[in-house]
Amino acid sequence: MSLDQQAVALKHKEGQDSKTRYLAVASGKGGVGKTLLSINMGKCLSDGGSKVLIIDADFGLSNIHLMLGLNPEKTLSDFFYGRAEFKDILVKVNDNLYFISSGSGIYELARLPGDQILNLVRRLQELSEDNYDWVIFDTPPGIHEDTLMVTSAVDIPVILTTPEPTAVADAYALIKILNRESGVESFYLLVNKAENYREAEKVYESIQLLAEKFTTAKINFAGSIKYRKNIIRRIINQNPFDSSLMEEVYGVLKNMPLNLKLREESFWQRILTKIFKR
Ligand SMILES: Nc1ncnc2c1ncn2[C@@H]1O[C@H](COP(=O)(O)OP(=O)(O)OP(=O)(O)O)[C@@H](O)[C@H]1O
Ligand SMILES: [Mg+2]
Repeated sequence: MSLDQQAVALKHKEGQDSKTRYLAVASGKGGVGKTLLSINMGKCLSDGGSKVLIIDADFGLSNIHLMLGLNPEKTLSDFFYGRAEFKDILVKVNDNLYFISSGSGIYELARLPGDQILNLVRRLQELSEDNYDWVIFDTPPGIHEDTLMVTSAVDIPVILTTPEPTAVADAYALIKILNRESGVESFYLLVNKAENYREAEKVYESIQLLAEKFTTAKINFAGSIKYRKNIIRRIINQNPFDSSLMEEVYGVLKNMPLNLKLREESFWQRILTKIFKR
């Protein structure tokens, strides 16, 4: 175990009280690396001894399974409609790391009758809290209302961007909406495909400046992930875990409040409140 790896494992264990933490990776612009980094964050946390569930919330364009070369036969939608048990939609990556594909699940959930929503959400809460230390949501790009709902309900909202001006503008737009319309006050900004740390830091500073001026949000700098030419090869070979990338991801996780104090209201309760407010 590297030093960063040990620090991440310890940092999480310290705050452990059998409850589950929820993290979402969101971006304004597409293609910035949400899926790659959700998977690698999940792998780093699970290697540190945590049980991790990744939920591919990219309804319609799900692609975690493509990156991992594992094909789920059933999705969260099948679970919602009673066509599958929860264990049948779980895809095992290793003993500590699982993922599920949402299909159009979360989108559909909000459209079911109220008592059914209540039952399903309670069941999801039980399943998460009985089995996982972490649930990570890989969301679709943009400001779809379901992405806003999930990202504003998690404990750690990660906003991912690249240094490209269009991606930066869209990241800020997402932060502004999440802050003004969904009441999110604290964000973790991660800059992917950076040439170096300074470049990423400049992106952070520009977003931070705007956020300070026009929102009430606090932007925390989660760090920088280098552009790597070889990543595309790994993705083609369906093995997205890269040791040097994972070292950087450990550094990023160290910047996040992995042992944060849990709020009174759990993630799933916050989701319920949001669904019923619509
Ligand atoms: N650090 C990196 N260095 C080089 N290429 C990268 C890096 N991160 C991601 N990529 C490449 O960027 C592309 C998009 O990555 P990924 O699918 O993870 O993005 P995404 O944000 O999930 O996309 P979408 O918005 O479509 O869901 C992939 O081809 C991946 O290889
Ligand atoms: Mg994706």
